[in-house]
Amino acid sequence: MTAKKRIVLSSDHAAIELRQAIAKHIEEQGYEAVDIGPTTPDSVHYPSMGEAAAQKIASGDCELGIILCGTGQGIMMAANKVKGIRCGVCNETFSAKMIRAHNDAQILSMGARVVGQGLALEIVDAFLSTEFEGGRHGLRVDMIKAMED
Ligand code: RB5
Repeated sequence: MTAKKRIVLSSDHAAIELRQAIAKHIEEQGYEAVDIGPTTPDSVHYPSMGEAAAQKIASGDCELGIILCGTGQGIMMAANKVKGIRCGVCNETFSAKMIRAHNDAQILSMGARVVGQGLALEIVDAFLSTEFEGGRHGLRVDMIKAMED
């Protein structure tokens, strides 16, 4: 039996319900949802949650991640500060495929105050089912990586 792909999930207080719906959805599809919270509606700072999710990937504990805040923007900015992490905000499916296929992004960010649950789940499916294409895109991703050194 092959190990389930581990997907880290995190959000701020603005996206708890959507995050939990995504966790259930991806578990039903055979992924392991590593949900790092929060679970209570108390206000939490999105930079901390974005960083925590990104660290799970940078450390090798999880392969991909899905992070959420009200707009998806603030938590994405925080995640992208962690070395080696590429995260994009996608509020439609085309970009969600492309950040995997062309940018080798490990993290998808969405805005819970921007997309409804039905669309969000389709965006998640597009992201998780797409592989990085490599080739000329690999060269460009390497250029991004080189900026970090
Ligand atoms: C929280 O009110 C809100 O600022 C946050 O969820 C997010 O949208 C920030 O980018």
